[in-house]
Amino acid sequence: MKEYVLITGASSGIGAHLAMTFAESSYSLLLLARRENLLQEVKEKCLKINSKISVETFCADVRKDEDLKKVDNFIHKNDLTLKIVIANAGFGVMGKAEKLTLDDYKNQFDTNVFGLLRTFYIFKDHLKKSKGHLALMGSISSYLGTPTLTPYCMSKFAVRAFAEGIFFEMKSFGVKCTLICPGLVESQIRFVNNKGQYNPTAKDPAPKWIIVDTKSATAKMKKAILKGKKEIIITGHGKLMVFFQRHFPKLLDIFYSLR
Ligand SMILES: NC(=O)c1ccc[n+]([C@@H]2O[C@H](COP(=O)([O-])OP(=O)(O)OC[C@H]3O[C@@H](n4cnc5c(N)ncnc54)[C@H](OP(=O)(O)O)[C@@H]3O)[C@@H](O)[C@H]2O)c1
Repeated sequence: MKEYVLITGASSGIGAHLAMTFAESSYSLLLLARRENLLQEVKEKCLKINSKISVETFCADVRKDEDLKKVDNFIHKNDLTLKIVIANAGFGVMGKAEKLTLDDYKNQFDTNVFGLLRTFYIFKDHLKKSKGHLALMGSISSYLGTPTLTPYCMSKFAVRAFAEGIFFEMKSFGVKCTLICPGLVESQIRFVNNKGQYNPTAKDPAPKWIIVDTKSATAKMKKAILKGKKEIIITGHGKLMVFFQRHFPKLLDIFYSLR
């Protein structure tokens, strides 16, 4: 019997590499995102890695109930076993708060928080049935209120709060929940503007030397999900920042005030 992993935001970056790493482990895949052409490319790569699995792609926006319900219907109709759901879709709204608007914050929450919640509500019963795994994509920004990144940080704090509570609620159904908190990982995220549009010619605001490659980061994420770990913080710099936030927050204050 095939076991399926559903990944939102599977058309690029972390989601696309998660698909490939789960293909290596013989999981079949349900891949969701808005850019269908990129999803097709990810599908081909996954089938090249493992031709025995099934890969289905869905043009789906996590802000729309009907898009996710379409996938839910597909799972019911074909009596699929959904073992893992990875609520990964997201982007980052940047800028000083005084230059941003309420709508910028609403848009950020629409995808990063309500898109993730929608994914939870629509697929949770499948996970209860399979006693499966739910993975929620946080960030080291789930811990750090960074200047010029407040909408993103607020959204990821919310994801962490949800993950901490839901871990225990879902435990009683035999469902394991993992919060994934990456630092800087190679992907398209830093080239996506505040409206969610990808611009490949934009300048990456992060220094190259600090960015971790997606393949090794997603291999660690897979391991944590399959082990049912409550949380994983990925990248050395990410671990360090969270350590400082927990134990030496004043040092972070100094760091931010010098920037
Ligand atoms: N890379 C990092 O440094 C980093 C660090 C911490 C956390 N994260 C988190 O990791 C997750 C994945 O991001 P990434 O870094 O891999 O960036 P990415 O390459 O830009 O990937 C983002 C994915 O989310 C999808 N997406 C965005 N809005 C969506 C929507 N409304 N509906 C459906 N899919 C949507 C995009 O697909 P379409 O545009 O095709 O819909 C894309 O597949 C995000 O939650 C991000 O916050 C990333």
